[in-house]
Amino acid sequence: MGTGSLTIVGTGIQLVGHLTLAAQAWIQQADKVLFAVADPLTAEWLRSLNPTAEALPYNTKNQRRSETYQEIVQRILAEVRLGLNVCAVFYGHPGVFATPTHAAIRQAQEEGFPAQMLPGISAEDCLFADLGLDPGKSGCQSFEATDFLIRRRKFDPTSALILWQIAMIGNLGFYQPDGYLQGLSVLTEVLTADYSSDREVIVYEAAVYYPVCQPVIQKLPLCQLPTAKITEISTLYIPPQPSAFVDREMMIRLGMA
Ligand SMILES: C[S@@+](CC[C@H](N)C(=O)[O-])C[C@H]1O[C@@H](n2cnc3c(N)ncnc32)[C@H](O)[C@@H]1O
Repeated sequence: MGTGSLTIVGTGIQLVGHLTLAAQAWIQQADKVLFAVADPLTAEWLRSLNPTAEALPYNTKNQRRSETYQEIVQRILAEVRLGLNVCAVFYGHPGVFATPTHAAIRQAQEEGFPAQMLPGISAEDCLFADLGLDPGKSGCQSFEATDFLIRRRKFDPTSALILWQIAMIGNLGFYQPDGYLQGLSVLTEVLTADYSSDREVIVYEAAVYYPVCQPVIQKLPLCQLPTAKITEISTLYIPPQPSAFVDREMMIRLGMA
């Protein structure tokens, strides 16, 4: 036992295959492993890597997800305060659209404990591969769907647009099947101000159990988005519209002409 530390790692999206060697080593050598991964196979596998592995609380009786996230942070910190080297495991990249992980690192550091986060493979990384999107071609804008709407985020339709958590629009609580319909209609209406209603959009779900599963790639016109089959793990991708204007004066200034 040491003086307490926190390392947060991600499993990636696909079962077992996406975990980095560094993350695996931290899991194996930790005094205590806590995990927030939903599927039982990953949970069992984490226990095989480190028998201390235990699920983090995920209380869906709270009114707001933010309260549940606070409970997760407190559970992690309780073990760190005992002087244990704690490894907390989340799915995907642990720092991408994952509020409690950043909060736990901040809290641990404020209390004087060494704390670090290791990168992992996020859903967006899988999207780049499965949908053939190179963000270097025309840029890539990535927003949480509710944040995108309520803050009226500015974006450029000639650059790729990725919207996360489209099943949770306006929902501060927990996922409800069919609870997303109103939010999705509002999102469609807002997007129609910048894209034509027949513009092809993609509802994307990266394969979770490779190689048994394939990604789910639903292509449909924007106007049909409210009728798309959406789950908790759906992400919306809107490909870039044809090329943006090129500033010739800027090219000359850059010595390109
Ligand atoms: C709370 S965030 C967690 C993201 C995760 N930390 C990551 O690195 O991808 C949940 C959102 O991530 C996206 N997501 C999660 N799993 C996905 C998958 N298998 N395919 C596509 N998007 C996914 C969805 O937008 C979902 O609403």
